[in-house]
Amino acid sequence: MSAEPIRLGIAGLGLAGAMMIRAAARHPRFVLAAAADPRPEPREIFARTFGGRTHADFAALCAAPELEALYIGTPHQLHAAQAIAALRAGKHVLVEKPLALRLEECDGVIAAAEETGRTLIVGHTHGFDANAVAMARLVQSGALGALGMILAFNYSDFLLRPRRPDELDTAQGGGITFNQVTHQIEMVRMIGGGMVRSVRASVGALEPLRPTEGHCNVFLEFENGASASILYSGYDFFDSDEFHHWIAEGGQDKPSNRHGSSRAALTSPDFDEPAAQRHLAYGGRPMPEEQPHLPHFGVLIATCAGGDVRLSPSGLTVYGTAGPTELPVPRGEGRPGQGDTLDALWSAVREGRPDMHDARWGKATLEVILAILRSARERREIILEHQVTTPEYGGGSG
Ligand SMILES: NC(=O)c1ccc[n+]([C@@H]2O[C@H](COP(=O)([O-])OP(=O)(O)OC[C@H]3O[C@@H](n4cnc5c(N)ncnc54)[C@H](O)[C@@H]3O)[C@@H](O)[C@H]2O)c1
Repeated sequence: MSAEPIRLGIAGLGLAGAMMIRAAARHPRFVLAAAADPRPEPREIFARTFGGRTHADFAALCAAPELEALYIGTPHQLHAAQAIAALRAGKHVLVEKPLALRLEECDGVIAAAEETGRTLIVGHTHGFDANAVAMARLVQSGALGALGMILAFNYSDFLLRPRRPDELDTAQGGGITFNQVTHQIEMVRMIGGGMVRSVRASVGALEPLRPTEGHCNVFLEFENGASASILYSGYDFFDSDEFHHWIAEGGQDKPSNRHGSSRAALTSPDFDEPAAQRHLAYGGRPMPEEQPHLPHFGVLIATCAGGDVRLSPSGLTVYGTAGPTELPVPRGEGRPGQGDTLDALWSAVREGRPDMHDARWGKATLEVILAILRSARERREIILEHQVTTPEYGGGSG
C-alpha cells in the first residue's frame, strides 16, 4: 500500500470548508491541492495560502488530474449530485452530512460508489468522535451487559446563528433535522447497532424569525428492543454545554455567559447576515486552534444492564456498581473532529479498510431524518425499511 499523502480538493469554502481546511492543513497524510467555490474571495485566500489551484466551478475540481479525493462541504441539496459526479470522475469522496435530501438520491450515490469502486464516506463528524466510537464499541462488546436505552440531547443557538435563506426552508434541507439532529441519529445508531425499527417524533417551529424546525423530541426503537430518545432545541435559550463542563462542540472551553448572544446579534438593527456568514466562512476570521478536550454534540448516555456510560471531555465515564470510572480514549492521527473523518478516509483509501459510514449507512440515517419529519406531520409511528448494521463494532445483530 502507498504511504503517499492523499491529494485532497475542497468543494465549498464556507464554514464547513474552513473547518476541514484547518484539519487537513495539519494532517500529515493529506495535501490541500485545490478548491472550488463560486465566491472569488475565499478562492484567492486558498490559492495564496496553499499554492493549490482554485476553480469557480465544481466540474473543474472533478476534472483536476492532480486530485485523488474530494471533500464536499457545499449546501446539503448539492451533496448527492456532486458526490456522484466526483465518484464518476474517479475521485474518492468525503461528503458532508446529510448525504442527500431524498432516499432516491442516495441510491444514485450507492450505485456510483459500487460501479466505480471508489470510497465514499459520509462525514457526520460526530459519528467519528473518538469517544462516541469508543462508546459504540464498549456497548456492543457486551462488557456492560444488554443495552436498554440511549439518551441524546442538545440545546444550542443553531437556528439563530447566521444562515442562508435556503437553510430556513425545510424543502431545501433547512431546519435542525437535516443539519443537527442527523449527528445525534448517527451516534445513537452506532451505539444501538444501526437497525432502527421505528420512529415517533414531534417537531416544532417556535421562532417567528426563523420559520423552520427549531426543536424536536424523537423516540426510536431498535430491532433489538433497545430504544433511544433524541431531543434538540436550537433557539439560543438554554445551552446544554452547561451539562458538559462548559466545553463547546469542537472541544474548546466555552464562556458560560453567552446565552442569547446569537439572538441579540440577529435582532440588532445593523445586523448584516450575509457579512456575518462570510465572517464564519473560510478566510473570514482566524480559526480557533486550541482543542484541549474531545469534541461532543450535547449529552449522550447509554444505559446497559451493568451500568450507564456517558461521553466525558477526554473519553468515557462509566457508572457501574463501583461508582464512576474514567476511561480515557486516545485521539486519532488528525485533529479531533474533521481530522477523524480524514483518518477514516486514509484507512479506507490507503489501507483497504472500508469505513462503515458509507452511502448505505448515510441512506439509513437519512431515512430516520425523513421519518422524524413524517411522524411529526402524520402524528404516528413510522416503520423503517432501509437500515443497516454496524458489524465493525462487534455487534450488528441489532
Ligand atoms: N460536520 C460539521 O461539523 C459541519 C459543520 C458545518 C457545516 N456542515 C455541513 O457542511 C455543508 C455546508 O455548510 P456551511 O455551514 O459550510 O455552509 P456555508 O454557506 O458556510 O458554505 C457553503 C459554501 O459552498 C459554496 N458553494 C455553493 N455552491 C457551490 C458549488 N456548486 N460548488 C462549490 N461550492 C459551492 C458557497 O459559496 C459557500 O462558500 C452543509 O451540508 C452542512 O451540513 C458540517
